[in-house]
Amino acid sequence: MTAPGAGMPFGAYQNEIYLQGLGGQLPPFTTDPDALEGSARGRLGPGPFWYVAGGAGSGATVRANREAFDRRRIVPRMLRDATTRHLGTTVLGTEMPAPVLLAPVGVQSIVHPDGELATARAAAELGLTMILSTASSHTIEDVAAANGDGSRWYQLYWPNDPDVCVSILSRAKESGYRVLVVTLDTWSLAWRPHDLDQSYLPFIRGTGVAIPFSDPAFRAGLAKPPEEDMPSAILRWVPMFTGTDKSWAQLSFLREHWDGPIVLKGVQHVDDARKAVDAGVQGIVVSNHGGRQVDGAIASLDALPGIAEAVGEQLEVLFDSGVRTGADIVKALALGARAVLLGRPYVYGLAHGGQGGVRHVVRSVLADLDLTLGLAGFRSPAELNRDALWERA
Ligand SMILES: Cc1cc2nc3c(=O)[nH]c(=O)nc-3n(C[C@H](O)[C@H](O)[C@H](O)COP(=O)(O)O)c2cc1C
Repeated sequence: MTAPGAGMPFGAYQNEIYLQGLGGQLPPFTTDPDALEGSARGRLGPGPFWYVAGGAGSGATVRANREAFDRRRIVPRMLRDATTRHLGTTVLGTEMPAPVLLAPVGVQSIVHPDGELATARAAAELGLTMILSTASSHTIEDVAAANGDGSRWYQLYWPNDPDVCVSILSRAKESGYRVLVVTLDTWSLAWRPHDLDQSYLPFIRGTGVAIPFSDPAFRAGLAKPPEEDMPSAILRWVPMFTGTDKSWAQLSFLREHWDGPIVLKGVQHVDDARKAVDAGVQGIVVSNHGGRQVDGAIASLDALPGIAEAVGEQLEVLFDSGVRTGADIVKALALGARAVLLGRPYVYGLAHGGQGGVRHVVRSVLADLDLTLGLAGFRSPAELNRDALWERA
């Protein structure tokens, strides 16, 4: 697929916007990362908005994620011939035009009817990798079709039923998802006051269940198909994918049934990162789920440098939680991430305008990344290290 402005640097989106302005055309919605959430709030009902924006408990970790970025500052360097940049990289055999992936985000149809299909199309258009959530509102196969020859990874919420688990893994493999991302931090939902106060949980309303409901092994365990008896199907699925923690030893089951790379998402402790190495997986995502799980947890960015130092040579260290700007991406890369996952911002884009909304947000973030990297004197992410940053005590 041809990316918009293929062959053009990402920063060229800036020129495109100014040139279109000469003809009286403004960007479809804000380019300001701080204004984006408020703008999405104006377009969504309180249930969907808070499901996306909210965090666990007091919201302390949502705030900590941002504060950790604020505490670190880039130290720009001059006269370094940074006019031409190269942002491309390869992670676990997947080529990327920039070290950015779209994070797995479930139930996307609560913000736009096209949901994950729109995200899949936007990702393919831009050449970025999307990670499809097990809590998708569309099936594995339909999202793969929307993504076409784009790049896709699959995120597993690990079902207790081994037959259902194996069936979902084989569907993902057959549909061209190259890497398995296993989310470890959400074996149960956290206490989320914004959702509780509205009694808003999409799954029990039949949203975000397209993958199990279309799964032959799951359907085989039901007395009646979900189309005839949705409540029973929901009652079977919800405890199957939440409520049971697993152990490190059980990872061998996934290795047996997935022959591609495996990435563990939700690692925050150096010892867990070392265990991931021992378990023989190929990557980790240093993530606290955007502050949606353990209230009061360490900021993900604060966890990153120690983990990257301990295991960065042995496996791929990816990062998410709190990434909003190009500068944020520069900071995470400088602290040892190989690539970052963009989360809430692209979902707000989706809320504004489906595929086009995702495209606008992602192009804005990539343009900001490209320009910030160059203006700070770096030609590629590979040149970044801790020397690029200053940290407030
Ligand atoms: C509405 C919403 C739904 C999410 N659903 C999933 C999911 O299904 N699977 C998963 O691994 N992570 C999920 N996440 C977490 C993201 O993958 C990512 O870790 C998080 O959004 C990063 O935080 P940030 O958005 O503040 O940058 C979800 C996040 C949001 C906001």
